Amino acid sequence: MTKIEDRIGRRFEKLRISLLNTCNFSCVYCVSDDLGDIPAPSIGKSAKEQPLTPDEFAKIISEVHSLTKLKSIRLTGGEPLLYRDLYTLVGNIRNLGITDIRLTTNAYYLKEKAVKLYEAGVKSVNISVDAIDLELFKKIARHPDPSRVFAGIEAAIDAGMKVKLNAVIMRGENESQIIPLLDYATKLGVKIRFLELMKMGHLYQSKNGHFFPEEEMLKEIQKKYEIEKLPREHAETANYWRTSGGGIFGIIANESTPFCHDCNRLRMDSNGIFYGCLSNAHGEKLSPFLHDKELLTEKLKGLLLLKQPVRFHGSKLSMRNIGG
Ligand code: 5AD
Ligand code: SF4
Repeated sequence: MTKIEDRIGRRFEKLRISLLNTCNFSCVYCVSDDLGDIPAPSIGKSAKEQPLTPDEFAKIISEVHSLTKLKSIRLTGGEPLLYRDLYTLVGNIRNLGITDIRLTTNAYYLKEKAVKLYEAGVKSVNISVDAIDLELFKKIARHPDPSRVFAGIEAAIDAGMKVKLNAVIMRGENESQIIPLLDYATKLGVKIRFLELMKMGHLYQSKNGHFFPEEEMLKEIQKKYEIEKLPREHAETANYWRTSGGGIFGIIANESTPFCHDCNRLRMDSNGIFYGCLSNAHGEKLSPFLHDKELLTEKLKGLLLLKQPVRFHGSKLSMRNIGG
């Protein structure tokens, strides 16, 4: 069987799974104002139907893993902490021999789940936090009480998890929060990554007036700190800097500093549909091909070909379906 690798040596090494496409937050950049998301190009189950069971997930992951050795799995959503059988699912994944299991969450329910998740095998978690100022955080997350996020962050650290924070920066909304967020992360001893706004979902083909580029983020940080760039690691989405204040921050700049050239990510949404590229809405349901390794290999190769050669262009897919 031929290798699943493209012309520039890209392979699928990391799988991101959206466990369910519902979320208890409605972040402005993720959910449109009328809350009427553009649905995923859905094949099969509708949003209201049950998500896949841990056994269904494990079966799919197992077959994909047998063909394209996965180094890690990231569980996302929607909001993955809303998935009822999360501990069982983590156990199932570990039973497949995949030990690097990570989570991306809004952390609202993390305080009460962090220890159990750590024990189940989740050693690393990315947490979205777009403002320190609570009024602003409420406005962005469109949730009455995002303060629990901070308790969740601290619980994850206390549980022993490696924690990274993610903040999407939007012009005219929360650029004032860059320094407070950086200082908060530095105080906790964790890394924070600032994200350029991506044209996903309802932002696709919009004017994106809120776009705040990497360059301006750096300027904002340099108002307070001197910064030193760190070397980029293979397939890393962020560039990292160390500050004179002892913190480390990253910037995920899909637009300004694209990182498609060594992308190793494969994505699956909550309907079992696989995507080869965040910037390509074409998805493929792989469950009908699980019994046929040859066909499955061809399907995965096809998905790999969907990766952008150089840069990200956005997609009508919503992050709520595909999970970042
Ligand atoms: N642009 C940038 N980041 C986004 N996220 C969700 N939607 C967007 C967008 N349009 C972020 C979430 C989370 C991560 C997975 O992606 O805040 O931190
Ligand atoms: Fe929920 Fe994440 Fe979308 Fe916010 S960005 S609404 S936390 S899925």
